[in-house]
Order: sequence, then structure tokens, then C-alpha cells
Amino acid sequence: MKIAVFIGSDSDFDIAKEAVSVFKEFGISFHLEVTSAHRSPERTKRLVSELEKQGTEIFIALAGKAAHLAGVVASHTHRPVIGVPVGSADLGGLDALLSTVQMPRGVPVACMGIGKSGAVNAALLAAEILSLQDKSIAERLAAYRERMAKSVERASKKINERI
Ligand code: RP5
Repeated sequence: MKIAVFIGSDSDFDIAKEAVSVFKEFGISFHLEVTSAHRSPERTKRLVSELEKQGTEIFIALAGKAAHLAGVVASHTHRPVIGVPVGSADLGGLDALLSTVQMPRGVPVACMGIGKSGAVNAALLAAEILSLQDKSIAERLAAYRERMAKSVERASKKINERI
């Protein structure tokens, strides 16, 4: 499978489900694992190396609080890593956003926004990367954008009907 999704805890799954829905909608298969930068560092490292050997091309990492998962994954691979900061009750996700986005020079992570929208965009960005080599994914992305534009038009029409 070309895409691996890592979540730092099973408590992140609600957010990860948003990415999962996008992959299902696009018919893109993926591999999902719960693994933590802090609680299971050896497992995280091993998974990156095993999945790379099995053909994973893009890693997506969702984590909250002191969210180092995406950065740690990026430290073990040269393949693209997309990070999604997960919000928590304590600091609302700003903690995870800063931990994920502020990578030191030389080890990039493509950081999405916090939470569900970030998870959707992570999946879409991964699809866009794959679409460079896969015409059918490119076509599905174009159709997705078209549907989205049409739904904006419908929303505008509905709002105007209420005025
Ligand atoms: C992070 O700590 C996880 O990614 C999760 O977002 C957060 C809280 O984890 P739990 O205490 O709910 O397992 O490592």
C-alpha cells in the first residue's frame, strides 16, 4: 500500500476517520497503525522501515499534545510526511500545531491544520501526490473539486431563497 496513516493514540481515531473516508471515497488503499513517538518509539521506527520496504510512498501522522510523531517519522524516511495536529482539551491543539509545524531545517513535515479539516486535507494532499503518477486519481480529484464548487453554488442559492 502506498499510504500509511499513523495515529499517536487510539484516542486520535475520531480525527483519523476523516482521512479514512476520503481514501475510501477515492478508492485508495492505505495502512493504519497506532504508534507513538513517545510511548512506542522503537515500534514507530520499525514500522517506518518495514512499510517503506513494502512500498509505502507517503506517511501521514496524526498526533496531539507534544506531537512529535510526524517529525519522528520524517527523521526515519526520505519519503513525504504529512502531519496532522490533533486538538486536545488542555491547549486546543495549538500545542500539537506548533510541535508539528515548527520542524528544524533539513527534515520537512507538510503540516496541515488542526483536527478534522486537517485530516481531510492530509488525505487529499496524499491523493494529489499520488495523482502525479496516477491519472485515475487525478480525474477523481477533479470531480471532487467540481462537486465542491457546485455545493457552494447550491448553498448560495439556498441562502438567497431565505432573504
Ligand atoms: C498523543 O497524546 C496522542 O497523539 C494523543 O492525541 C494524545 C493523548 O493520548 P491519550 O492519552 O488519549 O492516549 O500522543
